[in-house]
Amino acid sequence: MSETAPQAPASAPPEADIAAALGARSIVLVGMMGAGKSTIGRRLAARLHLPFVDADTEIEAAAGMKIPEIFELHGEPHFRDGEARVIARLLEGGPAVLATGGGSFMREETRQRIKAKAVSIWLRADAEVIMRRVRRRSDRPLLQTADPEGTVARLLSEREPVYQNADLTISSRDVPHDKIVEECIEALRSHLCGTGAAQEQSDVVSASR
Ligand code: S3P
Repeated sequence: MSETAPQAPASAPPEADIAAALGARSIVLVGMMGAGKSTIGRRLAARLHLPFVDADTEIEAAAGMKIPEIFELHGEPHFRDGEARVIARLLEGGPAVLATGGGSFMREETRQRIKAKAVSIWLRADAEVIMRRVRRRSDRPLLQTADPEGTVARLLSEREPVYQNADLTISSRDVPHDKIVEECIEALRSHLCGTGAAQEQSDVVSASR
């Protein structure tokens, strides 16, 4: 009679490990307009059974008007102050997955708050991907210029050195959204629990030696 080999214990799903390690901290997505922060954030939140919050939507609700109107009526500095206040408030309400507007991480005070209250992921997209995604829409006041390509190139060169300060970086490109979400989950697990795929792979290798 053949004996059944003992089953290896099933490892806990990464979502459960991540949620436990996060505690009250949130996951904050940063990066340029068109990087997919809201799209990926919504899916990531569903996977982790966390609420999804979009800072731009919350700013609009707090101001009672759309972002282009805030820029037009009150100017960018006023928008930035409101944005910093709203993000500070949202960070107190964790855990959640929070998608932030592309300029918010440029403010030192906001970066410090995010560091203290969240794990940040930079969704890094190149100029071509960004342009393809934002071209058809007119709801980004910063891109209502004669030369949107030039504006995106300038913003990227100013912002990328700052976005680099996020805890994790995931490349946002034109692949199925679920693939990017999976990469976020793997990076979060590895960052928070030190047990990503690379670690598991080396465990398997050393166990078989
Ligand atoms: C901005 C990005 C926008 C919005 C505002 C300014 C920016 O958000 O906050 O138009 O400075 O990059 P998204 O990044 O969600 O498009």
